[in-house]
Amino acid sequence: MPTKKVKKAVIPAAGLGTRFLPATKALAKEMLPIVDKPTIQFIVEEALKSGIEDILVVTGKSKRSIEDHFDSNFELEYNLKVKKKNDLLKLVDETTGINLHFIRQSHPRGLGDAVLQAKAFVGNEPFMVMLGDDLMDINDNSIPLTQQLINDYEKTHASTIAVMPVPHEEVSAYGVIAPQGEGIDGLYSVETFVEKPSPDQAPSDLAIIGRYLLTPEIFGILENQAPGAGDEIQLTDAIDTLNKTQRVFAREFSGQRFDVGDKFGYMKTSIEYGLNHPQVKDDLKQYIIDLGKKLSGTSDN
Ligand code: UTP
Repeated sequence: MPTKKVKKAVIPAAGLGTRFLPATKALAKEMLPIVDKPTIQFIVEEALKSGIEDILVVTGKSKRSIEDHFDSNFELEYNLKVKKKNDLLKLVDETTGINLHFIRQSHPRGLGDAVLQAKAFVGNEPFMVMLGDDLMDINDNSIPLTQQLINDYEKTHASTIAVMPVPHEEVSAYGVIAPQGEGIDGLYSVETFVEKPSPDQAPSDLAIIGRYLLTPEIFGILENQAPGAGDEIQLTDAIDTLNKTQRVFAREFSGQRFDVGDKFGYMKTSIEYGLNHPQVKDDLKQYIIDLGKKLSGTSDN
């Protein structure tokens, strides 16, 4: 049977974003801007660069802004046209016309439950899950992580989960894998997937990051998945069960990852992106140099 192409992606964006309150009280954290672009737009762009054709965004309360962002805004576009602001018009147009679909997760029961909302959209095809607050390699032109997972799938026909090493004391914030052996060119067979292990029980420091390529058999498992860590329906637990009936691989990511759902992660992302942004990079660089001098006490003023 020929391998099915990976053409669909699901972006879960229905979490409460409690680490970012009060900003996320009325605004989805996926809409927080990195300099001038909402976080979720980077993810949509990664999907498109990787050949994804249809995207389902799983939204919750206060997520209207996401739908509005990807919709056309007649008044704004008309205004920019009249004022001949063609550069700005191009920026506003950038993502209209993409095949985006939306569904609501009625209660934030956990990532596994958010993914389950995509069952009818996905049907019987392999698909991507791209977390709405995790950005990968935002500045460079290397192969997007989503494309890397799709390339793996085309060889193995198996679910593949992106992982990367994290400091040992931080493993309890992640899903973690117990790899089977050494891994070949960064691709690991996996013994078990464990959600939020304590550092003394973690089977490795290889943590699951926000990109998953999954086969549709995950849905049958999610439908029966009991709540796990934090009393939430955990995608990691369902992947662990899937791995018992069909092979699930882990792909080690060697690029840069930014956790935008975390305050400090968000600040670092803004700085890194700003340092490559044509309009602000020079001023920002100078500002950081001056700030460094001030903080180390070597400034003239
Ligand atoms: P997080 O755990 O990072 O998101 O979930 P959160 O729960 O919104 O954040 P905090 O910890 O309270 O600050 C990872 C991704 O899964 C989505 C989130 O929107 C985020 O993109 N998610 C999580 C859902 O869509 N539904 C859920 O029930 C939980």
